[in-house]
Amino acid sequence: MLTALTVAGWASARVDANGLPAYVDGYAKWTKLNVKPIHGGSAAHQGVKNVYASKRKVNRRYPVGTIVVKTATPPGKRWLSLVATMRRSAGTTNGGWRWEEFTRTSSTARFTKVGFPASGCAACHMQAKANDYVFTRR
Ligand code: HEC
Repeated sequence: MLTALTVAGWASARVDANGLPAYVDGYAKWTKLNVKPIHGGSAAHQGVKNVYASKRKVNRRYPVGTIVVKTATPPGKRWLSLVATMRRSAGTTNGGWRWEEFTRTSSTARFTKVGFPASGCAACHMQAKANDYVFTRR
C-alpha cells in the first residue's frame, strides 16, 4: 500500500470529504506569502485572497514538491469559495508547475474542480516568470 502511494507520486487521487485534494491538507500552517489579505488583484480570482507556500524558495526558485495555495472568500463572507493550487514537479514545461482550481458556491457545499485548462492558468502566470511564475512575493 505504501509502495503504491509512493509510486503514484502526487497524492492527487485522494480527495477530502470537502472535495479538496489531500495535497492541500494543512496549508493554513504553511508560510503565508502575502502580508495583508489581497483585495482586488487578479480578476481571474475574485474575493479576498491569501497565498500560502509549503516550502520556501531556495536560490530564487521553489523546490520540486512545493505546493502553493491561494484561497478566496467571497466579498463580505467568511467561508472559502476558492482554492487554487500550483504544484512544482520535476518537469520543464511552465517551469514544472501544474495548476488546479476548486470552487464552491455555498459554505456547506463540496468543492469541485473547475474545468478551466491549466494552459490558461500558465499563460497568465507567465507574466510572473521572473518570480518563478508566482505573482505574490513575500
Ligand atoms: C489573467 C491572469 C491569471 C489567470 C488566468 C490565472 N491567474 Fe492565478 N494569479 C494571478 C494573479 C495576478 C495572482 C496574484 C494574486 C491575485 O491577485 O489574486 C495569482 C495568484 C495565484 C496563486 C497564488 C500564487 C501566486 O502566483 O501569487 C495560485 C495558486 C493561482 N493563482 C492559481 C491559478 C490557477 C489554478 C489558475 C487557472 C485555473 C490561475 N491561477 C489563473 C493571475 C492569474
